[in-house]
Parts: sequence; structure tokens; C-alpha cells
Amino acid sequence: MEKLRMGIVGAGTWGETHASIYNEHLFAQTVAICDSNRTRAEQMAAKFGIQEVYTDYREMAQKSSCDAIAIVTPDFLHADIAVACANAGKHLLIEKPLATTREDVYRMMEAFEKNKVRVMVDLHNRWNPTVNTAKQEIEAGSLGTPYSAYGRLNDVKWVATDMLSWAAKSSILWFLGSHSLDTLRWLMNSDVERVYAVSREGVLKNLGVDVPDMYLTTLEFKNGCIAQMENGWITPNANTCINDIKFTVLGTDGMINIDCSSHNMIQMVTDTKVTTPDIIVKNRIAGKVKGFAYESIRSYVDRLIDGQDFLVSVEDAAHTSLALLAVLESAKTGNPVTVQY
Ligand SMILES: NC(=O)c1ccc[n+]([C@@H]2O[C@H](COP(=O)([O-])OP(=O)(O)OC[C@H]3O[C@@H](n4cnc5c(N)ncnc54)[C@H](O)[C@@H]3O)[C@@H](O)[C@H]2O)c1
Repeated sequence: MEKLRMGIVGAGTWGETHASIYNEHLFAQTVAICDSNRTRAEQMAAKFGIQEVYTDYREMAQKSSCDAIAIVTPDFLHADIAVACANAGKHLLIEKPLATTREDVYRMMEAFEKNKVRVMVDLHNRWNPTVNTAKQEIEAGSLGTPYSAYGRLNDVKWVATDMLSWAAKSSILWFLGSHSLDTLRWLMNSDVERVYAVSREGVLKNLGVDVPDMYLTTLEFKNGCIAQMENGWITPNANTCINDIKFTVLGTDGMINIDCSSHNMIQMVTDTKVTTPDIIVKNRIAGKVKGFAYESIRSYVDRLIDGQDFLVSVEDAAHTSLALLAVLESAKTGNPVTVQY
């Protein structure tokens, strides 16, 4: 069987992850890399044996022999790249979020539809075994009728101050809120109707990153369910895990509590720190990537090959971005905002 030929735009931290997953896959291979920073692109090409190197995504879209392209650039740059690649007939895996403006969401959807390309956005919490089990139990009726939910998805400060050079141009809402909102939509099996959000800033500003610290949001779903969503970038750096991931779903007959980051499955103690090593988001066993942050990317390749539907539809990703835009507007104006789809 011919291998699926993957191209990647963005040779940063997560672009490397994409390359290693494609190269590990029995039926895929990374054949092209594009980064506006030529050195980065060349380094990654050398590390992963990638033959085609580009610094312009338009040239890559037109000339590359790849079948599909992963877009792994900062979130506010996804749209132009996705439209150019879709117009060149390339299937797409886009890192989350799909886009960060309403105009971008609509022009991307139009380009995908016009060119009949297959698109998935990497909203990987749907591959999280805890969230997945919750979804299955909700669907089986174990909790009765879903009523309310709580979702916390926070990062330690280091992610905003050191890991992401572009944090001030984005937001914790785009970086992690995209995952939590998609998760809550999925668990509640409904779109968000209306949001009420408040945000606070100051801690990160004092550390030199001009971006809000935290958003607290109430979500009202079209089916009547309600949820509280917390997204912050100021968890202390000494937290036992880089992420703080917690979800609760309450139904008329039961409840599910999820704690992915301060669980008791494994603890590491050194002379200076106690940590809870991550074992479900990103993990390696016998040199191979395991964990739900990798599983979603591997699943994209599998579904492109077998033709089955992606676990996250492009409409899911579009609705998640549009609901997050309502959250931003609500936090800015102090008013409840009805989501415009
Ligand atoms: N799913 C996950 O678990 C996960 C984890 C981290 C990041 N991400 C997502 O991956 C994306 C990238 O994040 P990152 O942490 O790798 O960022 P990064 O800053 O490490 O890398 C981004 C790369 O994109 C390149 N780039 C910027 N503009 C470009 C352009 N116009 N053309 C070509 N290359 C360009 C930069 O030079 C850089 O090398 C974001 O959407 C982020 O949300 C997802």
C-alpha cells in the first residue's frame, strides 16, 4: 500500500510532534516541511528525513507532492494557510482552534466545501480516555439526563511566559478554552446558545505578557444544559502537572468526576519538587508516542486512509470557535452574548 504523504506547515514544538507521529505510522510519511524560518525547517527536515523544504506555504501548497497538510502555526495564522492549501486540493489537519475570527471561520469553511477536501481540527480531548468514558456513560444513560457540567483547563504560567513566543497575540481561551468548550459541547451533546464571561488580567502583564490571566464563563446550551468553564494561564509553575484538567458532569441520576492532572496513579518526588507525571496526555512507550494528544493525530491519518468520518467534524470546530468569540465579547462588554452561528 502506498504511504499517505504528509506535509507540515510550522516546524515548531508541536510541528515536530506531528512529524514524529506520521513517520511512526505504518502507512504515512512526512514528505514536506514549511516554516518561515528556514533554519527551523531545515533542522526538522534533517531530523525526520523530510525531502521537500519550503519557507512559503503557498509554494508548498502548489508544488508539494503531499496528499495532506498539517497546519501547526500560531492559531491566528491558520486561516490564510488553510485556504491556500484547500485551494490546492490538499486535505488538512489543522491544529486547534480552527480560527480566531468570524470572517476566518466562514472563509475557511467556504474553501473546504468548494474544494471538497477532508478537514479535521485537532480538538484532542475527544481521545482523552476519561472524557471518552464519560461520553459513553452519558450515551448509555448511566447519569440519567445530563443537567450541568464544570470544566477546568488551566496551564502553569510558564506556558504563557516561556513556551509560547506568541502567547500575547493569542489567549488562554484559544489555546485551552478551545479544548474545554469542545469537550463540554461533546459531553452535553448540544451547541452553546448563550455565554456570560468575566476575565481578569494583571499577573501575566506584570511578567511581561500582555494577555488576560483568566476567563470564567457560564455556558447555556441549546438543550437546556448549563456549564461553568474555567481557563487560566496563571497556575503556579510548581504545580504537580503543567496542565490542570478537571471535569464534572451532573445528570438527573448520577455524576462523573474527572481529574487528569492531580490523580494518584503516579507521583515523583525529588529533593526539590513533588510532581504528578503526565501519563495520559503525552507519553512514550518503547520509543513510540502514546497518549491522547498523539492519538488524535494518528486517528487523522487512519480516517484519511479508511475514508471513515473524523471524530471531530469541521462544523464542531467552527461552532467551537464561534462560541469562543462570544465568550471574548461577553468578557469585554460585561453582557451575556448569544452565539451567532
Ligand atoms: N494539540 C496540542 O496538544 C498542541 C500543543 C501545542 C501546540 N498546539 C498548537 O499547535 C500550533 C503551533 O503551536 P507551537 O507550540 O508548535 O508553536 P511554535 O511557536 O513552537 O511553532 C510555530 C512555528 O510556526 C512557524 N510559522 C509562523 N508563521 C508561519 C508561516 N506563515 N508559514 C510557515 N511557518 C510559520 C514559526 O516559525 C514556528 O516555527 C498552535 O495552533 C497551537 O495551539 C497544539
